[in-house]
Amino acid sequence: MQVYQDKQRIQDTVQELRRNQQIVGLVPTMGALHEGHLSLIRQAKEQCDQVVISIFVNPTQFNNSSDLEKYPRTIEADLSLLKENFKDLIIFTPTVSEIYGEQIKSENFEFGALAKQMEGKYRDGHFDGVGTILKRLFDIVNPHKAFFGEKDYQQLLIVKKLVELTRQDVEIIGCPISREVSGLARSSRNKRLQENELKKATFIYNILLEAKENFGTENAFLLKEKFENKFKEDQDFLELEYFEIANAETLEPIAEDFDKNLKYRAFIAAFANDVRLIDNIALN
Ligand code: PAF
Repeated sequence: MQVYQDKQRIQDTVQELRRNQQIVGLVPTMGALHEGHLSLIRQAKEQCDQVVISIFVNPTQFNNSSDLEKYPRTIEADLSLLKENFKDLIIFTPTVSEIYGEQIKSENFEFGALAKQMEGKYRDGHFDGVGTILKRLFDIVNPHKAFFGEKDYQQLLIVKKLVELTRQDVEIIGCPISREVSGLARSSRNKRLQENELKKATFIYNILLEAKENFGTENAFLLKEKFENKFKEDQDFLELEYFEIANAETLEPIAEDFDKNLKYRAFIAAFANDVRLIDNIALN
């Protein structure tokens, strides 16, 4: 396993691999690695000759300073987990100044309507921060492909839009959501929850499954109302931020009737104490 902090060294390493006709994949992470990340790395390894994992808690994508402070940082455990599970990986763990220099600031991107819904609406500036770090990582690492989980489905669409805007030559691959046996979507933030809280948080996935079952039986307005009410009436642990049914391509929320020719997904963001959890499901 090669571990680099220095961007010049990772750049040189990947350049050499590319000269030798190796296909290079990138799995960008913010650390606190878990089985969900390992499944992304496995998919990257299936499609690429060499895989780079970046571990970097990106300050510009946090709209809340206490969320940034509390974000789990477990670099030693992360490196051990990678070593236990994979033979040869290239790890990039830059410092904040290696990426941002003196100016820890986001660039502004024209993501359009995609960035205005859901996460974009509730986390001001979040996607500009995500765009800023990924644009820089793609420039530094210069991978052929980059892998992202569908748990952050809106982020996946934003990253596809980013490479269209920046014209960076990297193929963006979306990977299925990795779940605990309970159904709870795997997330680094789950590390901040106790066992009994993790159990209660599975309510999110159960609601998504119910929404899928109910899809098409009522119009979107009534379904949305029904599931929002369930958060108030059927449990008292999670605080719902949003339940949304949206067009899977444009993320435009659906207010009324569904169009049979289009694909839809249901999205949830909810707080478990001060831990913000998100999840989504394909409805059709
Ligand atoms: O999904 C994440 O963990 C982050 O948003 C990413 C893509 C690593 C960018 O910091």
